[in-house]
Amino acid sequence: MKTLKLPILVLLFATTISCSQNITKFMHDKNLTIDQKVDSLLSIMTLKEKIGQMNQYNGFWNATGPVPSGGDAEKKYKDLEAGLIGSMLNVRGVKEVRAIQKLAVEKTRLGIPLIIGFDVIHGYKTIAPIPLAESASWDLEAIKNSASVAASEAAASGINWTFAPMVDIYRDARWGRVMEGAGEDPYLGSKIAYARVKGFQGDDLTAPNTIAACAKHFAAYGFAEAGKEYNTVDVGLSTLHNTILPPFKATVDAGVKTFMNSFNELNGVPATGDKFLQRDILKGEWGFKGFVVSDWGSIGELIAHGYAKDNKDAGRLAAIAGSDMDMESHAYVDHLEELVKEGKVDEALVTDAARRILTVKYELGLFDDPYRYCDEKREKEVIGSKANNDAVLDMAKKSIVLLKNDEVSGKKLLPLKKEGLKIALIGALANDKNSPLGSWRLGSDDNTAVSVLEGMKKYTGNTLTYKKGADVTVGETAFIYDLTFNTTDKSEFAEAIEVAKNSDVVVMVLGEHGFQSGEGRSRTKLDLPGVQQELLEAVYAVNKNIVLVLNNGRPLAVTWADKHIPTIVEAWQLGTQSGNAIAQILYGDYNPSGKLPMTFPRRVGQVPIYYNYKNTGRPIPLEDEKMVFWSKYSDVENTPLYPFGYGLSYTSFAYKNLVLDKNEIPVNGNVKVSVEVSNTGNHDGEEVVQLYIRDLIGSSTRPVKELKGFEKIALKVGETKTVTFTLDKETLQFYTANNKWEVEPGDFDVWVGGDSNATLKASFTVVE
Ligand code: BGC
Repeated sequence: MKTLKLPILVLLFATTISCSQNITKFMHDKNLTIDQKVDSLLSIMTLKEKIGQMNQYNGFWNATGPVPSGGDAEKKYKDLEAGLIGSMLNVRGVKEVRAIQKLAVEKTRLGIPLIIGFDVIHGYKTIAPIPLAESASWDLEAIKNSASVAASEAAASGINWTFAPMVDIYRDARWGRVMEGAGEDPYLGSKIAYARVKGFQGDDLTAPNTIAACAKHFAAYGFAEAGKEYNTVDVGLSTLHNTILPPFKATVDAGVKTFMNSFNELNGVPATGDKFLQRDILKGEWGFKGFVVSDWGSIGELIAHGYAKDNKDAGRLAAIAGSDMDMESHAYVDHLEELVKEGKVDEALVTDAARRILTVKYELGLFDDPYRYCDEKREKEVIGSKANNDAVLDMAKKSIVLLKNDEVSGKKLLPLKKEGLKIALIGALANDKNSPLGSWRLGSDDNTAVSVLEGMKKYTGNTLTYKKGADVTVGETAFIYDLTFNTTDKSEFAEAIEVAKNSDVVVMVLGEHGFQSGEGRSRTKLDLPGVQQELLEAVYAVNKNIVLVLNNGRPLAVTWADKHIPTIVEAWQLGTQSGNAIAQILYGDYNPSGKLPMTFPRRVGQVPIYYNYKNTGRPIPLEDEKMVFWSKYSDVENTPLYPFGYGLSYTSFAYKNLVLDKNEIPVNGNVKVSVEVSNTGNHDGEEVVQLYIRDLIGSSTRPVKELKGFEKIALKVGETKTVTFTLDKETLQFYTANNKWEVEPGDFDVWVGGDSNATLKASFTVVE
């Protein structure tokens, strides 16, 4: 807040400032609040300098090397010296960051430090499971901790801002980026979004082990038509508010410092140029005080969208819409000054954007010490530490989902006996130290994951023989994808089959290569790529005792496997400690407890498929099952292969005594729902107890089931616990036909169970 004294103070500074030395003093004044400091700073900044804060460049040259000559890098270098860069991305390592920060602080007129951004998506150097996998843990503490481990490593490398968490909701496994979020559900997604922001940002943003988070991609990127990357999105207000926006709102509630907008258009307006999203909802309704960065080049892409006529026009539209920082479109740095002078963009908007950016820099403590993230000693100690590896191993074990564990000749294959077995390990992914790192691992080194082969070798009581059988892809490449990427080579099938024939158990690690999911990696098939399905069937023909371990970044339609293979483990891409986590699960040193955060289809033609669908006017055949006119396909059943929330354990759980404390509540009231859960099997284990509701009649129709509570509990063999949930206004309201959040009177059903097919049911009524 401005005080009366400030303008005088500022004037004094403004007239005397000639170098950053003087300004530094002023920036350090402990008697001023951040708002006052920012106000003061803004009042002495030229329009150009304010625009400079709104400009973000990709790392352009080795900062510790000589000054670049020629080309883009030279221009960027000059812009840096002229104070025309507010942020850099993809600069990392203490030496590099210190060098570039030094230029910003010492060479520019005002000495404003840069904010250094990087995609720290699931770990920096020590890689955690992909976010979709972590979400399968339903363990908010573990997820938060994983984000704080990632933050501490990134911060130790000079980075102070991550472009994470991605909180997009999506329902289409064809989309490559499903690996990067928390799955299909807005309730689970909101809880995880909140936890991740808290994990990255911690309790003290100025601490040298916390970094600013960025909720992305605002908004609706996950609803791209046909799961095709960057595709058009057209969704109504009900879906937007009830499904897509809640996780974003949760990040604002968690105090997230930045947002990133998205590449897609939403209902005819590209999100980067969308005032409704950025100004009306985010900065207006939600009162978000941080800043919005564009996605990479997304301001310039307004031209290709057919929304802006040139880069200048794109800059105008984006600035007016509320995109505060331009990531690599050069639209602001090249055109915004002119746009303001021509009266096409109000300078107040520029000042507001610069204010938001400067505030976050202050909150990070960058003005107090621009080098606070640049400590070589910490860099050495923190990055790749034993503690961080232990943390990602713990997260990896919690992320694994046991999909099937049927008896073969009266016995389950898992957990494996530790002695006396002849085990064949088959599949290229079993010996792959790169794929488990996923496609977002810019800070890590290639081939640094523990492979399944390495993990299993640590158990020495059995005989283990590895045979690849077949590759997944022909070579590997991070950025080039061509349609012949999948291998067709079956020449090594025979030796794998031979080993399988002579083994007691076959562990097959199949799925997607690490670069087959992620940005730009949409697929039209959800099968096991390449010749892996054929390999699986060929091995099955000689030995049915198969444990199929899936490594993949998205739900796969493994319908054949589900029908034939007795044991299936969903092990995603689990990061640096992948092989250790998988081996510990296979040998029963950790009892699987993960639950799917996304529905697995039977066939790709079912997508988008999700548990919280609407009933339609023709939900089930009333009399004659063969009758044609109801909502279904004629070649596959409606149900998924594995439902949302599903996952088995080596033990079994029973649910009983579902009790509500009231049958009727007022719209502002609450109802307590309790249930008894018992461990009825032979292993100690953990269960995610899930609560679903259905609001039977709505002013706009409601889903057949909605997750509204969950708790992960540990139960010893024979133990029973009572779990109690509270349903209240927060959980019962929805964005109604009145265009506001309301609890509507009427009847509600409640289910509690171990997945979204839960059948233990009760009901209550909300009265006026
Ligand atoms: C992605 C963002 C990412 C950015 C910077 C874009 O292509 O969509 O999620 O943060 O690049 O690397």
